[in-house]
Amino acid sequence: YRRLRVALLGAGAVGSQVASLLLRHGDELADRAGARLELAGIAVRDVDAPRDVDLPRDLFTTDAETLITGADIVIELMGGIEPARSHILLGLGSGSDVVTANKALLATHGPEVFEAADRVGASVYYEAAAAGAIPIIRPLRDSLAGDRVVRIMGIVNGTTNYILDRMDIEGADFAEVLADAQALGYAESDPTADVEGHDAAQKAAILASLAFHTAVPLDAVHCEGISAITSSMIEEARAAGFVIKLLAVCERLTGGDTEKISVRVYPALVPRSHPLASVHGANNAVFVEAEAAGSLMFYGAGAGGVQTASAVLGDVVSAARRHIAGGVGVGESTRGNLPVARIGDV
Ligand code: HSE
Repeated sequence: YRRLRVALLGAGAVGSQVASLLLRHGDELADRAGARLELAGIAVRDVDAPRDVDLPRDLFTTDAETLITGADIVIELMGGIEPARSHILLGLGSGSDVVTANKALLATHGPEVFEAADRVGASVYYEAAAAGAIPIIRPLRDSLAGDRVVRIMGIVNGTTNYILDRMDIEGADFAEVLADAQALGYAESDPTADVEGHDAAQKAAILASLAFHTAVPLDAVHCEGISAITSSMIEEARAAGFVIKLLAVCERLTGGDTEKISVRVYPALVPRSHPLASVHGANNAVFVEAEAAGSLMFYGAGAGGVQTASAVLGDVVSAARRHIAGGVGVGESTRGNLPVARIGDV
């Protein structure tokens, strides 16, 4: 097999699992990708920081730039805007395809990143940026490209679902379950992003952009988190036959001959009989309603290191196949959200 050099940026909950799977399943991945995926190195801030899994020490480097410029595929799992943005642009500029799970970056700088990729004929893969292990980016971008999506309604943050679920089932204390969600690797490094709904809003912006074929800016997403939800509210909801879930609702609203897009994240009262009420733990679920297809439901692990690593590695295999098929400049467009318009203009 031809060798492709893979640069991994970040070795947190997801990154360390991606490295481990790349090393353990090298032969199988080579057969599937048609290329040997050689982990060239792992760029981190601190080489000696504790990791979730044991990895060969000589793979670690603090010199991300050198690693990136020598790579065929760059996997960005650092999170945050900088230096992730600069590293991704450097990778694209030096002819790599990029795989990222960075919802914050895509929700705020998506058009810049996709335009940089388009300029050099590279691709950006981001299946892991929304709803963890659940395949939802490709279905929206590719499988439903011939249909008209009218609504997406989902639980897209594992941490808040885990917290609300344990408060509901056990009457557990908010702070205690948040600490558990952090220990289990579900929460963002700053869990405020989970608790205040920002993480769900970023994912909603990405999903809405794909579903409605327009770049939905993050600042147009209404965002309310769960920090004001108390045990007594959960009790009251239960007594009335409801469960409180943090929902992301993306809708195409038609009125007369105009259409608008509305994207909102908020804690909602969900009837106990509704399928979303039985999404437990850190699982996510995304309901998609499309004109021709009708209702579709996507369900599974929305957070967690090894689960999210599955989606990342699927993207790495896709990127490798594209390289083998003809390299950068040939093949699929991963962009999806071509025209750029504001919410309300559509
Ligand atoms: N912190 C995120 C969550 C991780 O809890 O859903 C997955 O994006």
